[in-house]
Amino acid sequence: MARQAFRGPIFHLLDDPDLGPEAAVIYEDGGLLVEDGHVAEVGPFIEVQPFLKGAPLTRVTDGLIVPGFIDCHVHFPQVDMMASPGKNLLHWLSAYAFPAESRFYHEDVAAEAARFFLDQLLAHGTTSALVFATAHKVSAEALFAEAFARNMRLITGKVLMDVNAPAGISDTAETGFMESRSLIREWHGKGRLGYAVTPRFALTSSERQLELAGRLLGEHQGVKLHTHLSENYDELEAVKKLYPDCPDYFGVYEKFGLATPQSVFAHCLHLSSSEWQRMGQAGCGVAHCPTSNLFLGSGLFNLTDAEKAGVRTGLASDVGAGTSLSLLATMNEAYKVHQLQQRRLSAFKLFYLATLGAARTLRLDDKIGNLTPGKEADFLILDAKALPVLQRRWERSSSLEEKLFALAILGDDRAVAATYVAGELAHKR
Ligand code: GUN
Ligand code: ZN
Repeated sequence: MARQAFRGPIFHLLDDPDLGPEAAVIYEDGGLLVEDGHVAEVGPFIEVQPFLKGAPLTRVTDGLIVPGFIDCHVHFPQVDMMASPGKNLLHWLSAYAFPAESRFYHEDVAAEAARFFLDQLLAHGTTSALVFATAHKVSAEALFAEAFARNMRLITGKVLMDVNAPAGISDTAETGFMESRSLIREWHGKGRLGYAVTPRFALTSSERQLELAGRLLGEHQGVKLHTHLSENYDELEAVKKLYPDCPDYFGVYEKFGLATPQSVFAHCLHLSSSEWQRMGQAGCGVAHCPTSNLFLGSGLFNLTDAEKAGVRTGLASDVGAGTSLSLLATMNEAYKVHQLQQRRLSAFKLFYLATLGAARTLRLDDKIGNLTPGKEADFLILDAKALPVLQRRWERSSSLEEKLFALAILGDDRAVAATYVAGELAHKR
């Protein structure tokens, strides 16, 4: 049995910190015991010590142990075209995103990009993600294979897009269905992997393709639905024209059986109260993508609307429209997005949205999201040393909460000293 122990400050969340102070747990001198890739014990070191029984002990003197970050929405092929200055979503897609994605028909291109992407996720402290590939089956295969080799809990799927897109990145309703089904059979549930049926958005799938996406969901228990919803006003207008019979944008997904408890919708910036309410009733989750929304000028996500409707929400980078793979950098922008709407997100809330809140959004909170015994041991050692300004701010902090807030606002991948995946060291700065 592989056992190892860690001693140092530990922070994690047992619940949404807005529900009460007991949700945020801090052990200033904490102990974490990992056995066979899972958390065996966590608590004050003196309480964990009796269980160590000779397990090798790593001391964390300068840093802080936190759960691994979970990115609820990111496009791995778009790392190649981050920082492309689009006029708006639809222009950015056709000018930059689609051309970049058209290279991914080639398995060598996809494999090299998948390796780079996962190395970078780990370097940024992200241990799990819900990921868009491209419409090419090989792009999803490449990412699954690389994530499997790293034993990461990762969900992806080939993109479905059979209309309004260049030929080089399109499928057909039938090939999209067949290839998705074959990928589900090969990869869903293998190791820590999961499959997401991934229609790009309502504008790039025919009615037949959306119908077949619903069929894939119905036929495969636990498979996710991953798409975009209500990001940009031109997109909303185009959806209205294409689906005059649907009450609104969310209604299109409802019509085809895609609004389920396994569904995760990226953005959700311009939803009506009826749409929010129906999303909550259907048990859907939302990926909040602040760096992307600001970069494309799409709008401001309102977490309060989501919470009122009971819609689970997690943070997401949405690279390549997003401007950083770092969920610390993403917390910084989420804070500002809500500051502009007169809501102040606490340090605990920001970390919640990137850990347990994100795990809940993906319905993986029985496995990841915090460090309670039995969970998979995905965790980070964060420390400020590589950022002199953050280091200086840390030294002047009187509480761990103040340090966490400084990390969220000033931190990035340089603050990730080490990343552990299922108890194994996967990245060291
Ligand atoms: N809507 C449809 N496709 C995309 C995409 O690739 N990125 C973003 N941000 N929105 C989308
Ligand atoms: Zn996206």
